[in-house]
Amino acid sequence: MLVRHAFQRLVLSTVILALAAGGCRTDPRSAAWWATSPLLSGPYVIDVTSTAATVCWQTREESAGEVRVGTVDGSAVQTIARQQPSRFHAERLTGLVAGVVYRAEVRGDSQMLADVTFAAAPEKADAFTFFAYGDTRTHSDDHAVVAAAIEAEAERRRQFTFLLHTGDFARSGSDTEETAEQFFRPAARLLARMPLVPVHGNHEIWGELYQDYFPPQSATRQGAAANDRCIDYGSVRLVVIDRHVRSDKLAAKMQWLAARLAEAQDRWRIVSFHTPIYSSGKHRSATRLRAAIEPVLVAGKVHLVIAGHDHNYERTQPIKGITHFTTGGGGAPLREESSRGLGPWSALFASRHHFLTIAVTPEKLAVQAHGRIGETGRFEVFDSVEIPRACDWPQPDPGAAASPQAE
Ligand SMILES: [Fe+2]
Repeated sequence: MLVRHAFQRLVLSTVILALAAGGCRTDPRSAAWWATSPLLSGPYVIDVTSTAATVCWQTREESAGEVRVGTVDGSAVQTIARQQPSRFHAERLTGLVAGVVYRAEVRGDSQMLADVTFAAAPEKADAFTFFAYGDTRTHSDDHAVVAAAIEAEAERRRQFTFLLHTGDFARSGSDTEETAEQFFRPAARLLARMPLVPVHGNHEIWGELYQDYFPPQSATRQGAAANDRCIDYGSVRLVVIDRHVRSDKLAAKMQWLAARLAEAQDRWRIVSFHTPIYSSGKHRSATRLRAAIEPVLVAGKVHLVIAGHDHNYERTQPIKGITHFTTGGGGAPLREESSRGLGPWSALFASRHHFLTIAVTPEKLAVQAHGRIGETGRFEVFDSVEIPRACDWPQPDPGAAASPQAE
């Protein structure tokens, strides 16, 4: 008996020592860890499909990038990918299998930097939940709270699918340190587990870095700009539009959007761009964009539009069959509604930090808004709505470009 107790004490002491030793190690992706890492930001995954994904990361100095990818059970799919020395790294991984979880280890000059796990997109019939938020700029602490809440909700649901970001990642799109501080590092733990779908915001206009962080898709892109994206994820087609475009390029972009929607009539159709075309927030509705894009959205029978830009949450009643969301509460300074008050189509407006969950099934899209409770790290569901497969879209009227509900 004594021998057994002595052995148990020895084991316990060993465990305590091991824990103590672990506690002395630098916590991965903590401020101390970033201070000594050759990584400036990342790694993160974009453009995930059922067969491919792109792993991105940035280093402080130029280095030869390398990715080692395998399934989480250890079997390798692609062992090494290399590129020329650079500070911005992006490797497209192909040959993935739908629904399978992978671990990608990124390396620089043969040194292990960090890893990221992600799942290839599911099969078309599978149910899943994805996440959306936006406007994470300026207040890193608030952004970190929202990112942690998204990770916790994803953990609770076991749904590390993808995260739509509606734009304005950092205050200035021309400063890599600031972008790391305001966007990538507060969200680093989340991005290490969940792929990202980026939307180009107006704060990204001021720099040339957007396409370094988010390389353009390589698919046929006639009419699309470099920052437009078209992603099929399970039963969802998500089309991302960079609305910051010269007016003479807008018609071609709308034709591209119309074609992407027309070919996806057997899917849920969701469109995201930065500036909401129905908003009661500070910036109000982007009515010129509305005139151009709303007829295309209606003709394409879009179920949801998800925008950002205004630092609040807003959901509209269905307008011409389409429910519009503004999700701009990811960390940027919160704002109340504009002095002109709520639009007549507004269903709910809230000035609070928040994120969205969009649960996708064959029958419906169930959208919930999760809002921060005061200054705490706790969140609550404060809005829920279900979108049916068949919405009340009117017949397209080519002559009615401007909405009769325009303000
Ligand atoms: Fe914005």
